[in-house]
Amino acid sequence: MSTNRSVALQMAPFSAHLEAEIAQRFEVVRWFESDAAAREKWLAARAGEVRAVVTTGNVGCPAQLMQSLPNLGCIVINGVGLDKVDLAVIRQRGIVLGTTRGALSEDVADLAVGLLIALLREIPACDAHVRSGAWPRAERPLGRKVTGKRFGILGLGQIGLAIAQRLAPFGLVAYSGPRRKPVSYTFYEDVTSLARAVDVLVVACPANAATVRLVDAGVIEALGPSGYVVNISRGAVVDEAALVSALASGRLAGAALDVFETEPDVPESLRQLPNTVLTPHVASATQETRTHMADLVLANLDAFLLGQPLPATPF
Ligand code: 8YV
Repeated sequence: MSTNRSVALQMAPFSAHLEAEIAQRFEVVRWFESDAAAREKWLAARAGEVRAVVTTGNVGCPAQLMQSLPNLGCIVINGVGLDKVDLAVIRQRGIVLGTTRGALSEDVADLAVGLLIALLREIPACDAHVRSGAWPRAERPLGRKVTGKRFGILGLGQIGLAIAQRLAPFGLVAYSGPRRKPVSYTFYEDVTSLARAVDVLVVACPANAATVRLVDAGVIEALGPSGYVVNISRGAVVDEAALVSALASGRLAGAALDVFETEPDVPESLRQLPNTVLTPHVASATQETRTHMADLVLANLDAFLLGQPLPATPF
């Protein structure tokens, strides 16, 4: 059924509140629920009516879909990751881009630190030990001390900085990224040198052409058998096969991962490793932050409908 309202394509499920609010503003097409044949048929009939795409950081919007929507005016991401949208097409087409920039850095940093402590102190295994009833028969093996470790942050953007501020009271913080920042933490030009100088490498950079598989076998080797990796960025930044191989053979002590190369599918080889802590991409998943993110998505859509600059954009 066609209405007078312009159409928004919804690329992933959202909270009931956010979905209801978007539906107040647009005729919503639940793109993620239709198959390829239905999409093609729909586009042939109605592509010109689409003004907005509303999506998540890890789903984004394929360039081919953008190109088949001649009147697409905005893409609003319920997140901050830009790795699943083609920025060149967005710029060339003059499409406005909204994100939830600023809303989730604290939560992501909190989870990074939580994962780091859980990994070194083996909190999930300790929890399983108590629950299984094993405690009266056996002591848990010793964990590793967090305070006094050296932490390397890969990517000192808003999220990386929030992680650095949380880790600084625990120990020395260093970082690497495309450029030196006006901070007191030690800067390393390249990630291998950073990895060599620290005990824990926290991956916090965006995924893009320059960072895909940046944490490779060489970086993992530089961290060494008593080194750890924490990743709250994107699975694509870490060479997952090299990581699994190093974890399985003791060439890396452990890894805590919130993101994966082919999430939500996580390879069996990784899921079986005892020296890992794995979470299902939940770094921004708190009630408070998801409410804040929904508010920003709606503020972005409202501004777009009024022809005003979007309040939360990545540029
Ligand atoms: C969200 C994210 O989980 O901001 C991002 O890029 O990956 C996460 O905050 C995702 O966008 C789902 O809403």
